[in-house]
Amino acid sequence: MVLISKKNGKSTNMDSVNNIICREYTRKDFDQVDVVNSATLRVSFSYLFNIYHKKHPDLFLVAEDSLENKIVAFILVDINGGEVKKNSALVYAIGVLEDYRRQGIGKLLINKLIDNLKKHPKVKEIYLHVQESNKDAYKFYKKLNFKFVKTINHFYSWGENADQLSLKL
Ligand SMILES: CC(C)(COP(=O)(O)OP(=O)(O)OC[C@H]1O[C@@H](n2cnc3c(N)ncnc32)[C@H](O)[C@@H]1OP(=O)(O)O)[C@@H](O)C(=O)NCCC(=O)NCCS
Repeated sequence: MVLISKKNGKSTNMDSVNNIICREYTRKDFDQVDVVNSATLRVSFSYLFNIYHKKHPDLFLVAEDSLENKIVAFILVDINGGEVKKNSALVYAIGVLEDYRRQGIGKLLINKLIDNLKKHPKVKEIYLHVQESNKDAYKFYKKLNFKFVKTINHFYSWGENADQLSLKL
């Protein structure tokens, strides 16, 4: 289990009362993760929750405010999903509730994902897509060393382009 202190926003392994816990999704989390998905992203991925949980339980992660028993963030990932290179992981969704942003929770989820991908040695790269207009997410991924791969025109159902980014493991 990875714990994160609310006080300094640094991801560490320390134990504390005021903590955000990063852990694997369980089926009981469905409704709460659905709420976080709706609050943070324009696309609903709830139809994939239990499918990907069954496929790769260690790659569907949530961050929980353990004081409030409330899920505040999630990351949903597949291997060899979508139109990306073989033997790579694809982040379908990552979202952190607005009140919990800039506390290192997104970074915690990505770092835990990278750690868990060590158990999938064939996976050499992580891919994701970001809306061209989503400057905050772009800054986040840049900070975490994701690199621009290409722009995909009209990637989203509402016509917006996506930038594909990747991180070599
Ligand atoms: C993108 C998102 C997941 C980032 O989560 P987060 O928990 O706020 O990110 P972190 O606190 O871990 O940020 C790590 C670093 O990334 C950078 N960063 C993150 N958000 C940033 C922002 N809005 N502006 C500038 N830099 C930012 C910072 O360098 C930050 O470190 P710092 O706070 O010490 O300066 C979150 O903003 C979010 O859920 N947005 C809405 C959903 C979304 O856009 N998802 C991505 C779809 S592709």
